[in-house]
Amino acid sequence: MHHEQKKAFPTDFLWGSASAAYQVEGAWDEDGKGPSMWDSFTKIPGKTFKGTNGDVAVDHYHRYKEDIALMAKQGLKAYRFSISWPRIYPQGKGEVNEAGLVFYDQLIDELIANQIEPVLTLYHWDAPQALADEYGAWESREMIEDFNQYCITLYKRYGDRVKYWVSLNEQNYNSNHAFITAMHPPGVHDRKRFYEANHIAFLANAKAIESFRQYVPNGKIGPSFAYSPSYPASSQPRDMLAYENAEEFQNNWWLDTYCLGHYPQVALRYLQEHDLAPTFEEGDIELLTKGIPDFVGVNYYQTITYEFNPIDGVAEGKMNTTGQKGSNEDTGRPGLYKTTPNGHLETSNWDWAIDPIGLRIGLRRITSRYGLPVFITENGLGEFDKLEADGSIQDDYRIDYLRSHLEQCREAIADGVDLIGYCSWSFTDLLSWLNGYQKRYGFVYINRDEDSEKDMRRIPKKSYYWYQQVIESNGEQL
Ligand code: BG6
Repeated sequence: MHHEQKKAFPTDFLWGSASAAYQVEGAWDEDGKGPSMWDSFTKIPGKTFKGTNGDVAVDHYHRYKEDIALMAKQGLKAYRFSISWPRIYPQGKGEVNEAGLVFYDQLIDELIANQIEPVLTLYHWDAPQALADEYGAWESREMIEDFNQYCITLYKRYGDRVKYWVSLNEQNYNSNHAFITAMHPPGVHDRKRFYEANHIAFLANAKAIESFRQYVPNGKIGPSFAYSPSYPASSQPRDMLAYENAEEFQNNWWLDTYCLGHYPQVALRYLQEHDLAPTFEEGDIELLTKGIPDFVGVNYYQTITYEFNPIDGVAEGKMNTTGQKGSNEDTGRPGLYKTTPNGHLETSNWDWAIDPIGLRIGLRRITSRYGLPVFITENGLGEFDKLEADGSIQDDYRIDYLRSHLEQCREAIADGVDLIGYCSWSFTDLLSWLNGYQKRYGFVYINRDEDSEKDMRRIPKKSYYWYQQVIESNGEQL
């Protein structure tokens, strides 16, 4: 008789949750911290939803003990957080700020005292403003060595206690907004600069990983990629070609370069023909091959469906940052591809397609193409939440989202994916870069909004208790 093997999560699976410095910490100018590019950018009128910024955020800098106590009570096995570079180097380089290092010492020690594995992100978009002023941050090769020195400082300081490290968070998503849509700093619309800055970021990523081997030989490191696997809108060959183009330009451009050490050939050829290819210097190719990671960090929210886009077709469309369902516009590259809604999938109020099977597909693609372990470093649902009169938050929609995605993780593991952990986005509610506070992701509600900091009370949502029993049963009870 055919006996189906029981599908299960590994016993040492890292059940986690995540955050990023700018989105939670606040204390933007305390204890010697210098300004980041986001501290400046968010102060420019019209850049963020209702002018929100991370000056205070959810005050994690002062309330981290309370937050970690809530993690411990939930049974969290891992917590992914990021370090604010200008907290460590207020000027981006040179003199180190000991008070900044001490803050993360305390955070890491508190996690370990509560049996929570720290997962440390080196860079989650908040580069020092000083480096932007001095040489244009990611647009200069000087960034490679300054980033490397900052990373080495962290390796030396925390390498004895932190095993899991994330190098760059969502280089793809961040640079797309930084240099194409102009929605992230430095707010530029220039595809040539986009590819140049990306090339520098790839080199910085590889250099940081090369140094990691020396300073934290027993640790594990990888970048976190904003992975939206591509689908074709139909089996019409021209839609299939658009999908192939999108996969190459939107995903493999990063994944291949991280994991194989070189750009995908057809995309590179296209960029050379269009005067958009990055500038290679001697030693670049060699350095890229030294940056092969230990795992691929995956931030998964949705799949994206592509169709044919004529040469005079759609370019940048407007993005839904208000939660007004249906306000998202299609976006594309004329002659290559354009996005189109997938009629088979439900969407969130921010028009993100909800597709748990897409996660399984993505995990399998990475496994087959690169043969590396995967760490899901973000996955979650941003929605409006309601604090009820009785003080509860009934976020069943979030539970449904997370459950269905975890079911597909379990399937993917049975398919042969070496999945080492899963961090939901996010542990507490936090500041969304472009969507203010109303787009919530947390297991823990934070009582504040765009208009008022209120008391920033922490209130576990229904999903908090749901995840608690998921962890307790090691994923058997989803
Ligand atoms: C990822 C980022 O892009 O998605 C997070 O790494 C971000 O920092 C998350 O908050 C959700 O995006 P958004 O725009 O819904 O806040």
